[in-house]
Amino acid sequence: MAEFDYDVLVIGAGPGGYVAAIRAAQLGLKTACAESRETLGGTCLNVGCIPSKALLHASEKYEEVSGDLLAKYGVTVKGAELDLGVMLGEKEKVVAGLTGGIEFLFKKNKVDWLKGHATFKDAHSVEVTGKTVTAKNIIIATGSSVTPLPGVEIDNGKGVVVDSTGALSLTKVPGHLVVIGGGVIGLELGSVWRRLGAKVTVVEYLDQILPGMDGDVRKEASKLFTKQGFDIKTGTKVTGVEVKGDKATVSVEPAAGGAAEAIEADVVLVAIGRKPNTDGLGLDAIGLSVNQRGQIETDHDFATAVQGVWAIGDVVPGPMLAHKAEDEGVAVAENIAGLTGIVNHDVIPAVVYTHPEIASVGLTEEAAKEKGKVKVGKFLMLANSRAKANDDTDGFVKIIADADTDRVLGVHIVASVAGTMIAQAAQAMEFGATSEDIAYTCHAHPTHSEAVKEAAMAVKGKPIHM
Ligand code: FAD
Ligand code: NAI
Repeated sequence: MAEFDYDVLVIGAGPGGYVAAIRAAQLGLKTACAESRETLGGTCLNVGCIPSKALLHASEKYEEVSGDLLAKYGVTVKGAELDLGVMLGEKEKVVAGLTGGIEFLFKKNKVDWLKGHATFKDAHSVEVTGKTVTAKNIIIATGSSVTPLPGVEIDNGKGVVVDSTGALSLTKVPGHLVVIGGGVIGLELGSVWRRLGAKVTVVEYLDQILPGMDGDVRKEASKLFTKQGFDIKTGTKVTGVEVKGDKATVSVEPAAGGAAEAIEADVVLVAIGRKPNTDGLGLDAIGLSVNQRGQIETDHDFATAVQGVWAIGDVVPGPMLAHKAEDEGVAVAENIAGLTGIVNHDVIPAVVYTHPEIASVGLTEEAAKEKGKVKVGKFLMLANSRAKANDDTDGFVKIIADADTDRVLGVHIVASVAGTMIAQAAQAMEFGATSEDIAYTCHAHPTHSEAVKEAAMAVKGKPIHM
């Protein structure tokens, strides 16, 4: 009889866990994945990346036809109406299709889905719904959940004070949505409800939105979102939220101190970050502790301090992004199988799916300057012919290169299709490209991507069209 039930047991079936499970099975390892949700796919497929993008897409369509945005093209649309129920239903269909797709892939790759919450008993066994399952290797991929704001109670069922999950399923468009937190979720979901007709106020504690992003990007984003109608209150702290019936009053005051203000809201969205999921996992039973931020630390191979226990995704340090979790899933499975699985954490792109999109990879200008001398090339989308033709000229491409070696250190893009454009920058950086390599690569005309080439030319001060 085999010593263990499985070669690999993954806890959590989000983008990190399900990918690790499939890759491990592909490599010939007997694999199971424990997931406590009703469906596979984790935060990303169920209540994160996918439903938010489905609503961003649908709300963009509605905004296009509900005002006079298309009039300049000679297209007049009269009487556009919103059926929010249908829009939400379509989002649910997309989610069901994709989560069902993971179930299909599990079956295809012979990954056993252990339905229920997993708790460690020792380093090689976990309990799932009363049954003990053993494995030679256990991968923790339990993801993250919403950071609560002390004193503010989230009630997604009632729909007045919600988190991102609640904000994906509001049953009517709020008159006034107050978002606490000017980060990625606040701006994406704020965009959805603004496009559908809500007034949106964003309350951000810091003096600028989108912390961690390049300084120029943060300034540009603030300008563009304000132009779109967002009321952005930076340097402002929330001191309390009081719910009365189906309304809420948000009390705020300047972060630096000063006069308090009360903001009336129909819905309050709390989006101040996410925290790693380790509660109820039984880490004590295996003697594994978390760091100050509640994350599980690993080495470069994703091995934890406990032999046979590995960790990936949102529960470990690094950006909380689905593609980062997925790449770590592939790498950890390969390491367990005796191959060499590596993730280059210096080249993880990030995209905010607003309009325009905001995308970045590598170092910000501020971070790069702390490390040494840099050269910066910038090209405005206003001077890009395709952006002109499409009348979507907001934004820019910015490339930061090492002043001595010309190696590209960071790329930051604000543009309608920035999320697509950033892929070439990530690939170039992965191959150690210089700005000259990008500048001398032929780019199709007319495309938004030509702005990347021009920004690379601008690093040496020689863009053609600006
Ligand atoms: P998760 O996806 O969180 O999955 C972990 C799973 O483990 C969960 O299903 C959970 O139920 C399960 N679990 C936890 N503990 C246990 C246990 N003890 N036993 C059994 N099961 C357990 N990222 C992007 O890259 N692009 C985006 O566009 C994007 N949009 C987002 C939008 C929103 C609204 C949110 C909230 C997040 C978004 N993210 C996005 C972030 C992305 O969802 C996460 O980075 C990603 O899901 C992390 O993957 P993971 O596998 O580490 O964890
Ligand atoms: P975030 O970290 O992006 O932004 C949180 C914001 O809240 C920050 O600007 C922070 O300064 C602010 N804040 C913190 N405490 C506050 C307080 N008390 N009052 C007011 N403001 C406060 O976190 P967010 O938006 O909740 O998203 C969580 C994670 O989900 C992100 O880190 C991101 O990795 C992931 N995500 C990714 C998406 C994407 O890739 N497109 C989309 C949505 C989420």
